[in-house]
Amino acid sequence: MEPGLNQVGAENACRRVCLGSDVGYRSRLFAALRGGFFVTPIASQTAPSADATEALVRIERLVKYFPVKEGFLRKADLYIHAVDGVDLEIRRSETLGLVGESGCGKSTLGRLVLRLEKPTSGRILFEGRDINTLGSTEMKRLRRRMQIIFQDPYSSLNPRRTVYSTLAEPLIIHGIGSRSERRARVLALAEEVGLRPEHLDRYPHEFSGGQRQRIGIARALALNPGLIIADEPVSALDVSIRSQVINLLEDLQERHGLTYLFISHDLSVVEHISDRVAVMYLGKIVELGDRYQIFAEPLHPYTEALLSAVPAPDPELTLDRVILEGDVPSPIDPPSGCRFHPRCRLRIPTCFEIEPPLNDVGNGHSAACHVRAPVEEIQALPETLHI
Ligand SMILES: Nc1ncnc2c1ncn2[C@@H]1O[C@H](COP(=O)(O)OP(=O)(O)OP(=O)(O)O)[C@@H](O)[C@H]1O
Ligand code: SF4
Ligand SMILES: [Mg+2]
Repeated sequence: MEPGLNQVGAENACRRVCLGSDVGYRSRLFAALRGGFFVTPIASQTAPSADATEALVRIERLVKYFPVKEGFLRKADLYIHAVDGVDLEIRRSETLGLVGESGCGKSTLGRLVLRLEKPTSGRILFEGRDINTLGSTEMKRLRRRMQIIFQDPYSSLNPRRTVYSTLAEPLIIHGIGSRSERRARVLALAEEVGLRPEHLDRYPHEFSGGQRQRIGIARALALNPGLIIADEPVSALDVSIRSQVINLLEDLQERHGLTYLFISHDLSVVEHISDRVAVMYLGKIVELGDRYQIFAEPLHPYTEALLSAVPAPDPELTLDRVILEGDVPSPIDPPSGCRFHPRCRLRIPTCFEIEPPLNDVGNGHSAACHVRAPVEEIQALPETLHI
């Protein structure tokens, strides 16, 4: 049977998208393929205020290596390169999405920002202050400003504590309010996240997954934080209640001017909630941009492959998918040059030897790729390698 006009058009469009020759087409097609949220181009959005672009957190050359252990023994000189030279800003009141395959270092990066892990090297500045140089009193004060929401609300809640006790605990630890003021605060927190007063005397096992995540969110809000690290906050929930929790997070952000680092495998959720998105691969940020740039005009071949793996809503639509070749290499001995080169369909000889820097190609869109975001000096090097 002869293909219909629409089908031919779609196939041609896919080819043009995957060959990367038509950025405008690429934008529209990726949006159509995901069938979901078509993001307004940044040019037509209201320009952010100076405050909105101010960095709440600045991460500089951050490195975290974990020693490799065999049983209880440490294996000499072998390290997992979990985070390997990350420079990143989290701007005040924004949602920065963080995506990447399992094991690429997303949670470690989040834990480093909260100082739950000590960096091997590099700095994290919160409101301009290096968090790893703070004494215990200053750190306790800072802890009130940074909170985490975990993937699994059940294991992060104490099964022997009532909701009231869970929500009052951070207030007691930080010596906030009298008994009656704390009671009023706990009631207000419960109301904010959609729990009823009678829920406060119950235990975690008496709630559904969505309700338990609401308790986790209320606990994170208790101390009026500025920054919330949400590490896969909806991945463990039923699809039907994910959107309710996402809407709640968005409402709370608007009400309290919260800043989110939103870590997730679910690209459609990240696209929906994020202002900007960072794509991580084997301990490094390989692409950074606003959500339109990342989802509609991706530059890095890895980002393209991640987007291409999102199931198309229309099974009739054929697409030249960008398939990721091979497995993620070991973080103990990452590949030379560009870490993505063993799996990259666009690699050139330079990629085997020289690590591409995260290069800003304009409007805050950066990528680490010799082909898609070349840096002049590196491009000028003679290509001496043979594939
Ligand atoms: N405490 C630790 N000790 C040793 N290795 C660790 C530790 N924490 C993380 N790692 C390793 O560091 C790497 C990055 O782990 P991390 O949990 O940050 O990845 P992730 O991107 O969050 O993955 P996922 O999407 O599966 O949650 C992995 O190889 C992991 O095994
Ligand atoms: S630098 Fe080379 S190997 Fe790395 S993503 Fe770009 S083209 Fe591929
Ligand atoms: Mg993780």
